[in-house]
Amino acid sequence: MSVADDEDRPVPPREARSAPTPIIEFRDITKVYGSGDAEVRALDGVSLRIEEGEFVAIMGPSGSGKSSAMNLIGCLDEPTSGDYLFKGVRVNDMSRAERTLLRRNFLGFVFQGFNLLARTTARENIELPLIYRGSSQAERDRLVARAISVVGLGGRAHHTPAELSGGQQQRVAIARAIVTEPALLVADEPTGNLDTRTSQEIMDLITRLNREQGITVVMVTHEPDIAAFARRVIRFVDGRVESDTGQRSPEQPPGAALPQGVSGHAR
Ligand SMILES: Nc1ncnc2c1ncn2[C@@H]1O[C@H](COP(=O)(O)OP(=O)(O)OP(=O)(O)O)[C@@H](O)[C@H]1O
Ligand SMILES: [Mg+2]
Repeated sequence: MSVADDEDRPVPPREARSAPTPIIEFRDITKVYGSGDAEVRALDGVSLRIEEGEFVAIMGPSGSGKSSAMNLIGCLDEPTSGDYLFKGVRVNDMSRAERTLLRRNFLGFVFQGFNLLARTTARENIELPLIYRGSSQAERDRLVARAISVVGLGGRAHHTPAELSGGQQQRVAIARAIVTEPALLVADEPTGNLDTRTSQEIMDLITRLNREQGITVVMVTHEPDIAAFARRVIRFVDGRVESDTGQRSPEQPPGAALPQGVSGHAR
């Protein structure tokens, strides 16, 4: 797949570039569902750039277009108009098969409802994306063991979701999302079904993935306490970006916003 090159806009050599290529770029995106009287303009001219290594929270009232934007970012849906560029490549121009490859190789998804297979152990759930990707048994064993140790599942890897707490289920879902070593973690209300304390633990984990593994995180949340873990907050209202605070300027290298070891959220 040609994620690294773009036929329309050849990527210049690194030294010739004035600013790094954002991992996500929306150019005047609209998303319209339905038609006629039933038409809903879920996104109404959204332009934004997210650089590699950022940790972004998306906030806004119910129906403001957050999930619509996440579905586009995750290549689960296509815009009605406008361009989406992933690492500088127009996703609009990709075939369905290329978008599937992009999802499998670059993206990890975490949802409010965990979305785990019920009669399948934690370990098998985590292994699934690697089976889809055609990884060898040896590679699967290595990557699954690593993902389990990163999320801290303890001895629960051979239990089914029904035998796990909500927090443990979300750890399994996060392990499944990161087992392929994605560049981008897309999380839609990852703590929506969890109590306050478990939410904090899950957010500590997501923060570590961002800081220590350099995974770019884009996360929808309704809760200011959860958004406070992010370094940047984009607020949607009526399908438009109402505010965008804490945005990193393109000149700043990843991680430059805070001195090393300094926590980015008020506790
Ligand atoms: N598949 C769909 N078909 C028709 N309308 C849709 C569809 N998905 C979303 N919408 C509409 O688009 C608008 C934006 O929805 P979206 O799910 O993006 O909102 P949201 O910000 O994620 O809200 P919430 O906080 O409730 O999850 C809403 O008016 C919604 O009803
Ligand atoms: Mg939503």
